[in-house]
Amino acid sequence: VISVLIPAAGSGERLGLGAKALLELNGLTLLERAIQSFSGIADEIIVALPENHLELPLQNARAVAGGSSRQASVQNLLKAATGDIVLIHDAARPFLPRAVIERVLEGVTQSGAATAALSASDTLVLENNGLWGMVVDRSSIRAVQTPQGFKRELLLEAHRKAILESVTATDDAGLVARLGLPVALCLGDERLFKVTRAGDWALALAFAPVWDADTLNDNA
Ligand code: CTP
Ligand code: MG
Repeated sequence: VISVLIPAAGSGERLGLGAKALLELNGLTLLERAIQSFSGIADEIIVALPENHLELPLQNARAVAGGSSRQASVQNLLKAATGDIVLIHDAARPFLPRAVIERVLEGVTQSGAATAALSASDTLVLENNGLWGMVVDRSSIRAVQTPQGFKRELLLEAHRKAILESVTATDDAGLVARLGLPVALCLGDERLFKVTRAGDWALALAFAPVWDADTLNDNA
C-alpha cells in the first residue's frame, strides 16, 4: 500500500505571490498538478495545507493542517498515513515525470529509502570573499529533488530521532541518512525543478502549456 504525502503548506515567501501550492499554471494549481501525477499509483493521497486554506476542496486527496516548517508539515502527514510505503513530493515541483516515480519506488524496494537526484551541469566552485576559491569535483555532486520514498516505519523513526535531537532538515532523505541508513539516489529530471523564486515561476509559466501538450506521451 502506497501513501503519497504532499507538503503544500508553505507561504511562498521567496516568490512573494502568496501560498505557492495554490497558484495556477495553465489552468491547474501546483497542488492539483502534484496530485494528478500520482493517479493510478497512490492508494491514498494526503496533503498538508496552510491553516487558512483547510477548507480547500480536494479531488482524490484528504487534507491535514501543515506545521510551521516543512519538517513539521511532513510530521503531520506521516501521522495520518497508513501505507507501508510513503512517497513524499513537494507541491512546489509541478512537473513530475512518471518515470521518476517509478525509479524512486524501485529504489525504496531495494534500499528502504530513495530520492530523486540530479547531477550538476555547471562548473561548481567555492566562493572565497567574492573570489574564485576551490573547484568542487562535479562528478560526485547531486542536487536532491522530490519525490522521496521510504518504508513508513523507517521515516517515522527518522522523524522521532530528529525531534529528540532537535535536528532540522529541508528534506526527509537527509533525516534518514543521518541514522546511517542507505538512501538510494535515483535519476531525477530537469523538468522537476522547484518553483522557488521569480525566475522559476517565469519558467514554469512558459513551460506548462508544453508539458500539458506532452502529457499524453511520456509524462503521465
Ligand atoms: N512546506 C510545507 N509546510 C511548511 C513549509 C513548506 O508544507 N511550513 C512545503 C511547501 O508548500 C512546498 C515544499 O514544502 O511544497 C517546499 O518548500 P518551499 O519551496 O520552501 O516552499 P515555501 O516554504 O512555501 O517557500 P518559501 O521558503 O520561499 O517561503
Ligand atoms: Mg520554505
